[in-house]
Amino acid sequence: MLALLALLFGLLQSVSSNVQHTFSLNPNSSLWTYNSSREVFKARNPSPSYLSSVTSEHYFTSLLHPAFPSYQIRVKKSAFCDPTVNVYTGYLDVDYGAKHLFFYFFESRRNPAKDDVMMWINGGPGCSSSMGLLMELGPCSIDMDNVSANGTVWNPYSWNAEANIFFLDQPIGVGFSYADFGETIETTEHAAQNVHAFISIFFETFPQFTGRALHLSGESYGGRYLPAFASYIYDQNQILKATGKEPLNLQSVLIGNGITDISTLYPGRYEIECGLAALEVPFQKISTCVRMKMALSRCQDAMTKHCVDSFDSMNCRAAVSFCDSEMSTGYWASGRNVYDISKMCEGDDLCYKENTVIKHFLDQPATRELLGVQSPNNFSACNREVGTNFNLHMDKWAVPSQHYVAGLLERGIRMLIYAGTYDWQCNWVANKLWVDKLDWLARDAYNAAEWRDWVVNGRKAGETKKAGMLTFATIRGAGHMMKAQAMVSRWLAQREL
Ligand SMILES: *[C@@H]1O[C@H](CO)[C@@H](O)[C@H](O)[C@H]1NC(C)=O
Ligand SMILES: *[C@@H]1O[C@H](CO)[C@@H](O)[C@H](O)[C@H]1NC(C)=O
Ligand SMILES: *[C@@H]1O[C@H](CO)[C@@H](O)[C@H](O)[C@H]1NC(C)=O
Ligand SMILES: *[C@@H]1O[C@H](CO)[C@@H](O)[C@H](O)[C@H]1NC(C)=O
Ligand SMILES: *[C@@H]1O[C@H](CO)[C@@H](O)[C@H](O)[C@H]1NC(C)=O
Repeated sequence: MLALLALLFGLLQSVSSNVQHTFSLNPNSSLWTYNSSREVFKARNPSPSYLSSVTSEHYFTSLLHPAFPSYQIRVKKSAFCDPTVNVYTGYLDVDYGAKHLFFYFFESRRNPAKDDVMMWINGGPGCSSSMGLLMELGPCSIDMDNVSANGTVWNPYSWNAEANIFFLDQPIGVGFSYADFGETIETTEHAAQNVHAFISIFFETFPQFTGRALHLSGESYGGRYLPAFASYIYDQNQILKATGKEPLNLQSVLIGNGITDISTLYPGRYEIECGLAALEVPFQKISTCVRMKMALSRCQDAMTKHCVDSFDSMNCRAAVSFCDSEMSTGYWASGRNVYDISKMCEGDDLCYKENTVIKHFLDQPATRELLGVQSPNNFSACNREVGTNFNLHMDKWAVPSQHYVAGLLERGIRMLIYAGTYDWQCNWVANKLWVDKLDWLARDAYNAAEWRDWVVNGRKAGETKKAGMLTFATIRGAGHMMKAQAMVSRWLAQREL
């Protein structure tokens, strides 16, 4: 109903204002061109829709799919970021064009026709995946030293070394994704539907991806998003199979420094600050640690009672607010970077000075042109409104995401839970604790498994443990945001870390 209203409203708008988004859906054609001057939107040659048939850097090619009548993908080539591969950017238009999800797609540097496909998302909720792209694992990094004429420098450790990868700005409102009429997405489970549609349309529209292995990766709030997204995809796959259609070949989920089971977050933070979990000598003041230790048991009791054993929105919020204030204030007062205890917090409350440079870069008209950005909004690393809306629904606290993880593991989806040991926010101890107590079929085998070092170039990179489909890994001396390409390479090859 809402979608229909939006559509009608959209048609009226485009008629009355006589410009922008003149939709003329031609049922005879699956390939459309969209003139980036926003004035022409006309049919072009129909299929086959190989991605390589998208050749223009100036115009979007629009692709429709009969199974998803209310969606279309608009895609164009882009000279952004990685000159060694084909790069595409564009939008998934949802609800007859009322909502637009922005994506970047980079072909694999190895063998794009054969390599797996990976999706990366950042957390927040509300943060743009371009942060992961330009600060961590993308094909290029933001130029912090003013050495590059194009604003970025090539990243030899990018995750597209051996996989095709797309970065999705989701949910609506994040990064360059936007809605025409103010629609919002306010829960992870709702967001899952758009992400599933995006991936399905992408895989169905471009036949070269049919049956290709798919991996979902992300960090931070991705620990909440990804188990729900992957589960939604898995469940939808069963419906597709039952009707004789090609399912998505979902293989694995990778979660870096995630927030998944809320019950271990605060004990983890105590260990990072006041224990020896991260540094050889705790950095936090003794007096602060005493206060935290006293608060911890009360915090845990209240959360167990109001958020975990039963869920009461008002009392759970009060518990979280007590925990946050008692267990987090001391850390912020230390002035350290919440995502990397070895650094100081610089810039805004995201603590990295890269943020302002990235925003400046992405707001340049030339960059927006290069990417084909049509959002009316300026870029922001994290959209506060999205964060607030998720928070209003207690999205982080209301659903125990670890049960999705167990469900996926038990159905043969590989899961990699990894964490840099210097992160405070979604720290490795909290992750180890929830993985240890995860209620799933191979729990005993996992607990009995040996820890071992994993090594890159003869050097210890961290510690790891594995049972069944589950692998846990730490990355020594890494913060919340990291590169870890060696880890991903082994994971994609289905080798032990
Ligand atoms: C679609 O194809 C049919 C049959 O070829 C034709 O009669 C009709 O005019 C076409 N519609 C459009 C919108 O081009
Ligand atoms: C795009 O629209 C502009 C303005 O109407 C027009 O000059 C240009 O020729 C169009 N390009 C294509 C490829 O249709
Ligand atoms: C941008 O410039 C840097 C440094 O000069 C170079 O490494 C990189 O390949 C360039 N990127 C693009 C997309 O041309
Ligand atoms: C970067 O270099 C350009 C030209 O060399 C200069 O105009 C600009 O001020 C520099 N910016 C910074 C932040 O150093
Ligand atoms: C985007 O930023 C520019 C320059 O800072 C400003 O003039 C403009 O009003 C901003 N637009 C929006 C939609 O916030």
